Parts: sequence; C-alpha cells; structure tokens
Amino acid sequence: MSSDREAARRASEAFTERFGTAPEGVWAAPGRVNVIGEHTDYNGGYVLPVALPHTTRAAVARRGDGLVALASLQHPDTAVEIELADLRPGHPAGWAAYPAGVVHELRDRVPHGLSILVDGDVPSGAGLSSSAALECAVALALRDLLGLELGPADLVDVARRAENDFVGAPTGILDQSAALLCTAEHALFLDTRDRSSEQVPFALAAAGLALLVIDSGTTHDHAEGGYGDRRRECEAAAARLGVGLLREIDDVAALGVLADGTPEGDVLRRRARHIVTENARVLKVVATLRGDADPRAIGPVLTAGHESLRDDFEISVPLLDACVEAAVGAGAHGARMVGGGFGGSAIALVDADAVEAVTAAVTARFAREGQAAPRTFVTVPSAGARRLA
Ligand code: GLA
Repeated sequence: MSSDREAARRASEAFTERFGTAPEGVWAAPGRVNVIGEHTDYNGGYVLPVALPHTTRAAVARRGDGLVALASLQHPDTAVEIELADLRPGHPAGWAAYPAGVVHELRDRVPHGLSILVDGDVPSGAGLSSSAALECAVALALRDLLGLELGPADLVDVARRAENDFVGAPTGILDQSAALLCTAEHALFLDTRDRSSEQVPFALAAAGLALLVIDSGTTHDHAEGGYGDRRRECEAAAARLGVGLLREIDDVAALGVLADGTPEGDVLRRRARHIVTENARVLKVVATLRGDADPRAIGPVLTAGHESLRDDFEISVPLLDACVEAAVGAGAHGARMVGGGFGGSAIALVDADAVEAVTAAVTARFAREGQAAPRTFVTVPSAGARRLA
C-alpha cells in the first residue's frame, strides 16, 4: 500500500509516459471486506463492510478525438483504444470492461473521449472487490472532470450498472457502496432497501484487536455460475413467500411453507434461512459495536455467519472452511469467508498479539491441505473513494 501522495505521483507519471501529457487528476477507491451481511444486498437487506487501505487509482484526462484509451500498470500488455461510440458489452472485455462500463454508463455526458491510466494494489480475484474499486475511481473521476450532478447513491448506481450491464456480473450494491461511502475507523451499516446508512465506530486497534484477511488463493468469478444461481433461488423463495424481497421476512418460522417435501423446496428454505438469519446477524453486530460491549463479542456471530454460508447458502469451499476452523482453533474470536463465495478470502477477528499465532496455524493448515501458503494481511477500516491530485 502506498501513501496517497506517492500513489498519485506514480499514476500521474505513468499517465504522462503513456499519453504524452499530464492527467487532469488522479482518483482512488478502495477494496473492501464485509464484516457481516453476505448476499443480503440483492435481497434488500443489511450489510456492514469496511474499506481496505488498498486502493485502485485512475489518472484521467479528457481528449478530443472521440477515443477512449485505457491502460493499466497491472496489465501492461492489454492496453485498449476504442471509439466512444463503439463501446458495448463485451467490447472491450477483460480488465478494461470495468472502466469502459462506467464510461459507457455516462456516454451521453462524455463529450470527446478520455484517456485513463489505472494503477492499484487491491489484490484481484481474491474477493476483495478490486473491480468495484476500479469502477468507483473512474465514476468519481468522471463526475469531477465533467462536472456531473451525481450524489453518492447515483455514483453507486453508475458503478453497479457498469458491473451488471456491461461486465455482465449480476451483483448487488455492496461493493460499490463500500468503495464510495466507507470512512476510516468505521464500518458502513447500510440498509440496501432504502439506502440509509450509518458509520459505526470500528476502531479495532484501540480495543487491542486486529482484522486479519486471508486470501485463500482460490479464485472466484461472479460473471458466471453460482452467484447468479443464488440470486435466482432467493428470488424464487421470495416469490413463493409472496414478498418482493426476502428482507421483508424477519422470522425463520415464516419459511416453513417453503418446505413442501421436494428437494427444491428444501433448497429454497435453506437459501432464505441464510438471508433471514444473516440480516439478524448484521443487526446484532451493529448493536454490539454501537454500545459499550467488548467488540470481541461479535466474533461468534461472524463464525455463525460462515456456518450459514457453508450449510444453508452452500457457497463456501473446503479450503475456506479449513481456514475458518484453523483460525478459530488458534484463538481467533471469530472468522468467516467473505464476498460472493466459491473461493476468495476469509477474515478473522483476533487479538492483536495473536496475529502471528493465528497466521501460523492457518498457514500450517493450508500446507496440510496441500495448498500454497495464503497471502495474509492485517487491515484497518480505511477511507472511501477520493480525489488524490
Ligand atoms: C459480491 C457482490 C456483492 C454481494 C457479495 C455477497 O461481492 O458483488 O454485490 O452480493 O458478493 O455479499
């Protein structure tokens, strides 16, 4: 992680080297981990993410020839130049689809083309939302450069639509909201139905705690497969229950009607049970963090969240289960997989002086499973998207 000033200088210099002129500015947006509230966002429920100190940066300038030029220091061999008018889903593909999708969303307001150089240190493919960080850095840049009247919720929607409609990943608003709205030393308590939010104090260090992020090294891809299946199952469960969104159910007893004796009914009941209990877990964690209780008390709630993702929502993988088990076994107060599932990262809430022991236990467990050592780092709740220069 570089300081904002160092990051701005690096992106600016790389932009000048690439495009022969200085950028008009540099913007940054962070990756995220979600403390609790997984897969609740597209069900109108609650989420509680924190921003990572790792960011994606976009150095941007307007240009006059109708082209969108996209370059990334992380993908030096795949720079893209495309006519503004030729942007469409699939063109461009790969990493460039994320910034291109945002430009496409705002195409009516982009007069004559753009040059964008991307740099960043959010681990990609780790379930830490490097894609949303990229979308949000570009969305913020375009708002500022083009003088667009877009509030934070509008920016979230622009970035989310880029992901849904241009990239083709049917996600909710968790990642983009975290990237744009989080603040340092706080978790963002967001009600995804009415979009109200609260910054909940989460000053871990003061409590002698650390939030350990463990990147399992198994990748995930939301654009295909399981994520979309879960979304459709939740919608099917809501339809059978006669509600618009599963958020409207707050008592698991109401889910009994889903169990109609068929295997499908049982699956829908378990999917819905995850959403209902997960919303309750978010409220429980928020109540603990708002009050005077020891924040260690949220640990078991996090672990219960993992068990629900594993057993009811069925989106964990054995390596993440092993990771959680090893972390808790070595003294973590709680641990769980984070993000969309089927790979990616886990978090563990640990006493600051136990970070080493927990990391060693997890690493040893990975070795026993025949896996390379995971990348781990301690994170602190960090700032949301901002202009750097
Ligand atoms: C991914 C999606 C989010 C959210 C999470 C699961 O990160 O992008 O919208 O659904 O999975 O909580």
